[in-house]
Amino acid sequence: MIEAVNLTKVFGDFMAVNDVSLTVKEGQVLALLGHNGAGKTTTTRMLSAILAPTKGYAKIAGYDTVTQALEVRRSIGHLTELPGLYSRMRIEEYLDFFAEVFNVPKETRRSRTEEMMRQFDLWETRKLKIGEYSKGMRQKTALIRALIHDPKVLFLDEPTSAMDPYSSKLVRDSISELKKQNRTVVLCTHNLYEAEELADHIAIIRKGEILIEGSPDDLKRRLLGAPSFTVKLAQYQQPDNLPTRLKELVEVSDSGVDWFTYRCEEPEKYNPHLLKILVESGYQVITISETPRSLESVYLKIAGTPATANQNRDESEQTLSKLKEKRKGWFRNRSKEEANKTQETQAEQEEAVR
Ligand SMILES: Nc1ncnc2c1ncn2[C@@H]1O[C@H](COP(=O)(O)OP(=O)(O)O)[C@@H](O)[C@H]1O
Ligand SMILES: [Mg+2]
Repeated sequence: MIEAVNLTKVFGDFMAVNDVSLTVKEGQVLALLGHNGAGKTTTTRMLSAILAPTKGYAKIAGYDTVTQALEVRRSIGHLTELPGLYSRMRIEEYLDFFAEVFNVPKETRRSRTEEMMRQFDLWETRKLKIGEYSKGMRQKTALIRALIHDPKVLFLDEPTSAMDPYSSKLVRDSISELKKQNRTVVLCTHNLYEAEELADHIAIIRKGEILIEGSPDDLKRRLLGAPSFTVKLAQYQQPDNLPTRLKELVEVSDSGVDWFTYRCEEPEKYNPHLLKILVESGYQVITISETPRSLESVYLKIAGTPATANQNRDESEQTLSKLKEKRKGWFRNRSKEEANKTQETQAEQEEAVR
């Protein structure tokens, strides 16, 4: 649904976005994570046909963002970072106006705007002027505006940044709902909890470049190593003499009175064996649980804090250059495959013409 290839934006002599390539499938949520100034907003502005790329191209629902900008704009909803709202208008008039601009049929316009005002808890305050709204209420109004024509693709630039916890939850729930309806979402956020809850795919961006991308689980596995599990045994059972074949199977990392932890690269393969060994050796297993790992540790490891950036510069630069090379290789292969495919299609077309 979204395809960006070598997207680059230069402002004067400053490279804000550098060679960003990514794909987002229909029904997926992609989170762009990165510090302030990383290039998230500039990337989404290029994807939503607001800003022309200096180099590279992007397609949304098959439409090119430069040559078919109008079609792109019709297919998308965009909640910008600093949405301009008409503060003298009431929300009802405002949404009705935008529903008309976006060609929402007259018969359904009123019910659609009412439904959305109720969904985002703005129904009771619909008689106030937008200028009298709080920051969070204005952000919700702008979000409804982005959703009013039920677009296939949504760009949400820090959608909950000004909201209280209750409103943030409403917005997160609505993003989950959009996902169920097979909508495609690009979410720029600083909020790692939000990214972890909603995103199928995460791209961490720094200084205009994607450093690493993948599913949250995939990123954790790649950056934090093999997952760790805790086995809780029946109260009286001590894990002092675990069977040798168990220790050969997984790396036991810690233990206590009635528990032990281990690391395991392929749990789907090894956990059933481990359980069998424990049962055969007379242990009563109460639970086996994966130790939760946060996206925050992944983010800090890769995007860095000022302190860790200095301490671990060499290590992280090495990891990063390896990751970048891997990504480039992957895209090179993909471009080759696509070039071959195009040649094949062209040959087929020529054949058909003949
Ligand atoms: N129109 C512009 N002119 C010049 N520099 C810009 C412009 N827009 C963004 N930048 C610069 O590009 C960099 C990336 O900005 P942005 O995409 O807004 O980052 P993010 O959304 O990740 O915080 C920043 O250093 C910002 O100052
Ligand atoms: Mg931004």
